[in-house]
Amino acid sequence: MLSDAQKQHYEREGYVVLEDFKSAAEMAAVRERAREIVAAFDPDAGRSIFTTRDQALATDRYFLDSAEQVRCFFEEEAFAADGSLRQPKELSINKIAHALHDRDPVFDRFSRGPELAQVATDLGLQQPLVWQSMYIFKQPGIGGEVGWHQDATFLHTDPISVTTFWFALEDASLDNGCLWVEPGGHRSPLRELFIRENDTVRKERIDTTPWPGADRALALPVKAGSLVCFNGLLPHYSAPNRSDKSRHAYSLHVTDARTRYADSNWLQRKGELPLRGFI
Ligand code: FE2
Repeated sequence: MLSDAQKQHYEREGYVVLEDFKSAAEMAAVRERAREIVAAFDPDAGRSIFTTRDQALATDRYFLDSAEQVRCFFEEEAFAADGSLRQPKELSINKIAHALHDRDPVFDRFSRGPELAQVATDLGLQQPLVWQSMYIFKQPGIGGEVGWHQDATFLHTDPISVTTFWFALEDASLDNGCLWVEPGGHRSPLRELFIRENDTVRKERIDTTPWPGADRALALPVKAGSLVCFNGLLPHYSAPNRSDKSRHAYSLHVTDARTRYADSNWLQRKGELPLRGFI
């Protein structure tokens, strides 16, 4: 699936962009399914606002219990001071997460297959396990920023193996909040660890290496249908979406079963939902 040049690029830079990976029909199917899930969602059932800046909010049960469920999370700026939604519900959801790929047949189909299995093999994942899925809306006007981070912070294994599969379901541009990466930054240490203790989570700084400056950041504008794969240690962020266009994306986080999955990770499978790879 990956050419030698693409494999070398991934090794050297920590990421690779595979254009035209998904067809228009495949993308339309998951976009429609996401629309249906949001339409069926009762906002009062989940006033949990996702933010990576305020981890206190992340401690609520709604978030923790989403590990094996399909749940909707609001944008941080979705609510007015009086608690009412500032925009219609369908324009207020930050993401649907975290077990779409195992709970929903449409997302299951999108998330698996021989092509993805081959990409995983080519990236060095010999026994891939797909832990989580996120449908990210990056809503027009209020789509929040996601600051510099490494995905291995959230899904820790020993040795580190988490690999991100990020599918652009719409064109991602500088205007609507595309990904930014630090090329080669996957060779830097893991800076933070997101730790769960019973029903609380916290982020701990474990290395003082600073986040990259703006001079080290490379924007990755990509067309709809592109798959961006990156190493769990690669620092990346996305800017807020202040444009009038949404930026839908879908991501999978994958580890290698040959590594030890940390007991302290927030996301644990209790056995009800078997962990699977790409087949
Ligand atoms: Fe990330």
